[in-house]
This record gives sequence, C-alpha cells and structure tokens, in this order.
Amino acid sequence: MKIHIKTPEEIEKMRVAGRLASEVLDYVTPYVQPGVTTEELDTLCHNYMVDVQKTIPAPLNYAPSGHSPYPKSICTSVNNQICHGVPGQKKLKNGDIVNIDITVISDGYHGDTSRMFFVGEPSIQARRLCELTWEALWRGIDQVKPGNHLGDIGHAIQKLAEGVGYSVVREFCGHGIGKKFHEDPQVLHYGRAGSGLEIKQGMIFTIEPMINAGKAAIRHLPDGWTITTKDNSLSAQWEHTILVTEDGHEVLTLSDGAPPKPEYRF
Ligand code: MF3
Ligand code: CO
Ligand code: CO
Repeated sequence: MKIHIKTPEEIEKMRVAGRLASEVLDYVTPYVQPGVTTEELDTLCHNYMVDVQKTIPAPLNYAPSGHSPYPKSICTSVNNQICHGVPGQKKLKNGDIVNIDITVISDGYHGDTSRMFFVGEPSIQARRLCELTWEALWRGIDQVKPGNHLGDIGHAIQKLAEGVGYSVVREFCGHGIGKKFHEDPQVLHYGRAGSGLEIKQGMIFTIEPMINAGKAAIRHLPDGWTITTKDNSLSAQWEHTILVTEDGHEVLTLSDGAPPKPEYRF
C-alpha cells in the first residue's frame, strides 16, 4: 500500500478541485425538483463542468478493472439506491431522496463530494436518515488528525448509525484521492477505535458513509453499476474530501452552498 503524502503545490490544486466539485452541487441544487429526470441533472452538471468550469467529469468512461466504462458524468442514487446510480429517464417525484455525487478533475487533480437532496417534501423517516448520515460524516471528520487511526473514523460512524438501528454498508468505502480518483488508503465506515493505519499530515482522503435504514446487505443492478439495498430500505450518503493538517483537518470540498457542520443530535 503506497500512501501519497501531498506536497504544498498539490494541496493547493486539491483545494481548487474540491471547491469546484462542491460548486457543481451548488449549481444543480435548484434543478432538483419533482418531474426532472436524473439524465437531465447529468446533462446540466456535465455542461457546467466542461463549458463553465473547464473541468473534466471523472466518472465519465471511468472503468476500474471488472467494470464496464461508467456511461455518465455524475452519479444519482435515488431512495433505495446506495451509490453509483446511473442517471436515466425516470422522473424524480415528490418525497424522493437523491444523492448526487460529483467528481471533477481540475489541473490533473480530483475533487470528490456528494450531498443528499429532498425532492419536494420528504417523509419523516427519510429526513431522519439523511440528517443522521450527515451527522455521521461529521463525526468521522472530527476524528481526522495526525496520530489518530483510520479505525477511529469508522468507529465513530458505525456507533452513531447502529446506535439508532440503522446499518453501515460494508462493500464501499472512502479512499485516498489526488492525481488518481481512487488511491490508497481505504477508509472504512465501520471499525474499532485505535485500529488501522495511523493518520499523517499531508494525506488527503474522502469519507463517504452509506447508511441504510434497514439491513446492510446490497444488490447489484444489471446495469453493472447501480447498487441498491437488498431489502429495498432507504439509503443515504454524504461525502467530503479531507486534508490532514498539522493539528487536525481541512475540508476541501466546501463552497457557498455547502451545508455547515451540524449541531449533533443523535
Ligand atoms: N464518486 C464515487 C466515489 O465517491 C465514485 C463513482 S465511480 C463511478 O468514490 F464510476 F460510478 F462514477
Ligand atoms: Co469518493
Ligand atoms: Co464520490
């Protein structure tokens, strides 16, 4: 496992990439309304990245080994879809929850972030799941400082989610990020406090917990990409890209529209 410690020059490029990824989410927010298709959201984001930002949508044609090339520029995961939902012609409807996951390449470096969106008015249960998952991401971020271990992040997230009877998806994790979309280390969203790799200044990785309202088991859709819950329960995810600083962390995927760190309530 080769973990790349970023130089000051690389960190500056990652700050730009992170902000640009977050700004795509700001841009698309007003369009997430009942009646829009996820394909329309994909087109809007694609054109904004390519024509306005001059960034490259990293998902488009992304083909890790064992996968067909990803056909779209963003991921849109609706309701029981956990992650990697492929945009299509289905219209969003009132009460849906949707994760939009954006990864841009700017000057050769990746910024990766996702948020949950309510389409119209969510159910009480859907709102609670999304808010808990947002808090779970931040409980994980709180653990990011030199001398802590990756297991501290996973433990904080797992404790919160399982404490209210939700479950943590095991098959997908956060990841190192930089010149490559997915680098070492893997950042699990479950684990034991004090276990795993020691966190060091200059690392950059994502935290992106996927929390299911029901059981943790997953199902792969025949499109080769979309992952859903096996029991069809709702699933939520939020993602930030994080730099480890001398005495803590800096969240790189921030912009004017990014929601602030929450008050803890779970
Ligand atoms: N953005 C996702 C992540 O957070 C990865 C999407 S890969 C894709 O790691 F090919 F589905 F886009
Ligand atoms: Co990611
Ligand atoms: Co992502």
